[in-house]
Amino acid sequence: MQSSVWIIDFGSQYTQLITRKFRELGFTSEIMTVEDGLEKLKTQKPKALVLSGGPQSVFEDKTDYAPFLDQEDLPIMGVCYGMQILGQFYGGKVEKGIQGEYGLAKIKTVNGFKIDGCPSETDVWMSHSDHVSVLPKDFKLVIQSENGLVAGILHEKRPILGIQFHPEVHHTIHGKEILSYFLNSIARLKADWSSKTMLDSSLETVKEVKGKKVLCAFSGGVDSLVAATLTHKVIGSDMHCFFVDNGLLRPQDLHTIKLLQDKTDLNIEIIDAKDLFLNALAGQKDPEQKRKTIGKTFIDVFEAKVHEYEKNHGIKFDYLLQGTLYPDVIESISPHKKGGKSVTIKSHHNVGGLPERMHLKLLEPLRFLFKDEVRQMGMELGLKRDWVYRHPFPGPGIGVRVLGELTVDHIRKVQESDQILFEELKENNLYDSTWQAFTVLLPVKTVGVKGDGRVFEEVIALRMVNSQDGMTASVTELPWSFLNKVSSRICNEVKGITRVVYDITSKPPGTIEWE
Ligand code: XMP
Repeated sequence: MQSSVWIIDFGSQYTQLITRKFRELGFTSEIMTVEDGLEKLKTQKPKALVLSGGPQSVFEDKTDYAPFLDQEDLPIMGVCYGMQILGQFYGGKVEKGIQGEYGLAKIKTVNGFKIDGCPSETDVWMSHSDHVSVLPKDFKLVIQSENGLVAGILHEKRPILGIQFHPEVHHTIHGKEILSYFLNSIARLKADWSSKTMLDSSLETVKEVKGKKVLCAFSGGVDSLVAATLTHKVIGSDMHCFFVDNGLLRPQDLHTIKLLQDKTDLNIEIIDAKDLFLNALAGQKDPEQKRKTIGKTFIDVFEAKVHEYEKNHGIKFDYLLQGTLYPDVIESISPHKKGGKSVTIKSHHNVGGLPERMHLKLLEPLRFLFKDEVRQMGMELGLKRDWVYRHPFPGPGIGVRVLGELTVDHIRKVQESDQILFEELKENNLYDSTWQAFTVLLPVKTVGVKGDGRVFEEVIALRMVNSQDGMTASVTELPWSFLNKVSSRICNEVKGITRVVYDITSKPPGTIEWE
């Protein structure tokens, strides 16, 4: 989606929140690197420009910002590092900070500056060490931090605002009012984002493949479900959904898939590959090896099915439908990702290897949406709330929730305990109070007493976390009575389990999954 508000991303972890907040205010925006922005500027002109925060220092930045900043009438907002760029470019002074300001801070508006809906003193989120120490020419100080530092500058004649703190972060209580002030009062833009535009532009993407055959690697999760429903609306039976039953699913997953097969018009084929996966994984204990085997087997199963369609039904697929979301797109264009190397914590299982192997083009109608927008779209498309608000479930499924070797008995223990947890969360109306909830089988045995006898059996760990996007997570605090009930049911109903523990580790340092 092309937008007339350009956000130049300098690598702040919060950049995508600017887009999110802009959308909540009814405006689209497009995130890009400074190189891409400068290139694009040769043929197009934005209606407004945002310079994001970033971890670097203006003292090392050799970029020539003149093509952007010399445009007299272009509305510009610099956030954090972006404000320091403004400070330096327009002739002020930026100083290296000795201490910096990090976390919650208080600011006050000065020199008669007022923003609708924002009191003159308020709490904001700061994260900087360098700061503007001398105002650039023609700018006035409009916001000051409690430490007496420059926290906001406004050009006297041109539509330019600099903000040292992060209005996009939710800890900045009146951040939305500040962003709205920029969009409405400084840039004077017309709102252009609504759930209707969101649906229309996603449908447009699908319309481009009308008449082609589309294959969907269907997982039953919200992203693939909404992407498939949307695509089906446009191309109907030209889309085929393949769901691979790898034997590592929870009862609730199969239940949902069968419901979707029954209750929607989607053409979903369930491929039973349980034995294939179990054989491929036999004897494997190492988490990375297991992840890779699951990923490879998935691709093998898929490829075989695609060939079968070609041979038996004369259907040759042109496109692979993927539920890629905007955070993945931003991640792949992030300045860090482009040049830098990131450490692999886990080899994520996804369908990434499929398109090249099978010469499929990608169809990604959700690539400009955030998860909550996908859910909203799912509801608008008439899908049931329970389907759209399911917790995330990883591709390798129970494969990474049995620590160590996967056997039929180990898988059963996780399936049965997970089902108890799921039933109790639903029964007690707690399903929506946690972002993800599951059980893990630990490869240890402990002594217990059942009836009058000694037992020596395995342990189930409960993992329930709150998170926004899975990048960080905190432990969900659930009532003891609930935890007691779940523990008691698991020990009583799942054969071979005598002990239940509750994982109280945040991410970082623990990851959400145990493997
Ligand atoms: P971690 O364990 O990395 O998990 O903290 C973060 C989120 O990602 C999910 N996850 C996966 N999702 N394929 C997926 O589709 C995978 O291989 C995978 N591994 C972890 C995890 O469930 C959590 O929501």
